[in-house]
Amino acid sequence: MASAKEDRKEGEVVELARRRGFLWPAFEIYGGAAGFYDYGPLGALLKRHIETEWRRFYGIGEGFYEIEATTIAPKDVFEASGHLKSFADLAVVCKSCKSFFRVDDELNINKKCPGCGGELVEAGELNLMFQTRIGVSKGESTERDQNKSEGYLRPETAQGIFINFQRLIRFNRDKLPLGIIQVGKAYRNEISPRKSLIRLREFTMAEAEVFVDPREKNRHPKFETVKDRVMKLVPGEGAEVEKSLEEAVSSGLIANEYLGYHVVKVGEFLERIGIPKDRLQFRQHRKDEMAHYARDCWDIEFLSDRYGWMEIVGVADRGDYDLSVHAAFSKADMSVRTEVEGDAAAEKVVPHVIEPSFGIDRIFYALLESSLYNEQVGKEKRKVLRFKSEIAPIKAAVFPLLNRDVLKGKAKEVVQILRDESVFAEYDGSGSIGRRYRRQDEIGTPYCITIDYETLEDGAVTIRERDTMKQVRVPVADIKGFIAEK
Ligand code: ATP
Ligand code: GLY
Repeated sequence: MASAKEDRKEGEVVELARRRGFLWPAFEIYGGAAGFYDYGPLGALLKRHIETEWRRFYGIGEGFYEIEATTIAPKDVFEASGHLKSFADLAVVCKSCKSFFRVDDELNINKKCPGCGGELVEAGELNLMFQTRIGVSKGESTERDQNKSEGYLRPETAQGIFINFQRLIRFNRDKLPLGIIQVGKAYRNEISPRKSLIRLREFTMAEAEVFVDPREKNRHPKFETVKDRVMKLVPGEGAEVEKSLEEAVSSGLIANEYLGYHVVKVGEFLERIGIPKDRLQFRQHRKDEMAHYARDCWDIEFLSDRYGWMEIVGVADRGDYDLSVHAAFSKADMSVRTEVEGDAAAEKVVPHVIEPSFGIDRIFYALLESSLYNEQVGKEKRKVLRFKSEIAPIKAAVFPLLNRDVLKGKAKEVVQILRDESVFAEYDGSGSIGRRYRRQDEIGTPYCITIDYETLEDGAVTIRERDTMKQVRVPVADIKGFIAEK
């Protein structure tokens, strides 16, 4: 159980996030349940802003279409995809307290039980799929009916895209490449969920499935635009290297241009939302850790102060695995008749899939941790979340300088002016000005706007910038322009 006490050990970032209304363990009043978190008002805003930027990046930037498939699917889907057989983690169990733990780099059979110190023994591979029942039981039924009533919660959004491939490619006038994105919940019955948002049982994924003609994998149309990008690469076998994308692909370290392009793009997106480049590395899966569907896979890892290097995004070359297994199981034709440059004869091919798969919750954590600064200001300390303005939950907080009706009324008026201009603004009238600044710094509000008696005469307000703490006078009518320009 994720008790409040256990959560407190999570440290400064999660403590601030809970205290300020970003997130907290779910079902608190019933004692909690490990692996489930709820996002509060600021967390829901921040998460939505990350998702909006992601949609902008892949939807608008790459021209990928978004779909929304179901989160529950009948057994057939996951039987075909291989998840029912292969989506499992190796576990150990404690001989004394009987708790199960996932075997990973930190926990193996030689260690003692983290709960009671007891001896750990192997418990084999445990499947991570959440099972559910679809409809009511009709008593005696055929195996086909049983397969339809046995449902599973999706462990990735990807399968909802693969099983709709025929319709999607027709929508795209039978043309490759085709990029489809999806943002939504995924469920994994993790053996030992820990570390707040890092290992959840219900979490949000943002995935792109890029369907490409296998003969074109080494000809990404925009490769030129990213080929010089230098990355810290940790190969599956051998030592870490710094290489440009072009070198990594031409030396065969990254399997093809399409995969390479998308590995680089993940780094670009993470930096765009505010995760520093020097806290990112690209790690290739070893052969023995590759998912059942993958030919090559790169994790984009974030260097956390608290957890060390941790995966936040995975980019896989899934080959034709998924379309082929669904074709075999469902008997649907998943091939496309297509021609490649310099080869006039159109051929039927089963497309390959390159998949950047983002865990939004882990990115949310990485963003909180890398944005949090503890600063000394004169004799005072301040905690500040240096979010980029696009990402910050609240864009502007408006304060009356003093607790007087005339100032309060004017401050509320300014809040409404900003809201009418689509700036998410909040009124804050409680406590001293210093306290209000501290509160807004802690939740990452980029601008604080103070209304004083002069405002009533000259129509100007004082805007204080979060990072520089510099203050400027700006006419009310120019506030939005000032913020937009910054
Ligand atoms: P791990 O090895 O840490 O279990 P994974 O390799 O199983 O992760 P993927 O299957 O590649 O993860 O999933 C894609 C992304 O989804 C991950 O990079 C991560 O950000 C996110 N993710 C996966 N499992 C979880 C989870 N239990 N809780 C939160 N996010 C997750
Ligand atoms: N879709 C990526 C994964 O589930 O691993």
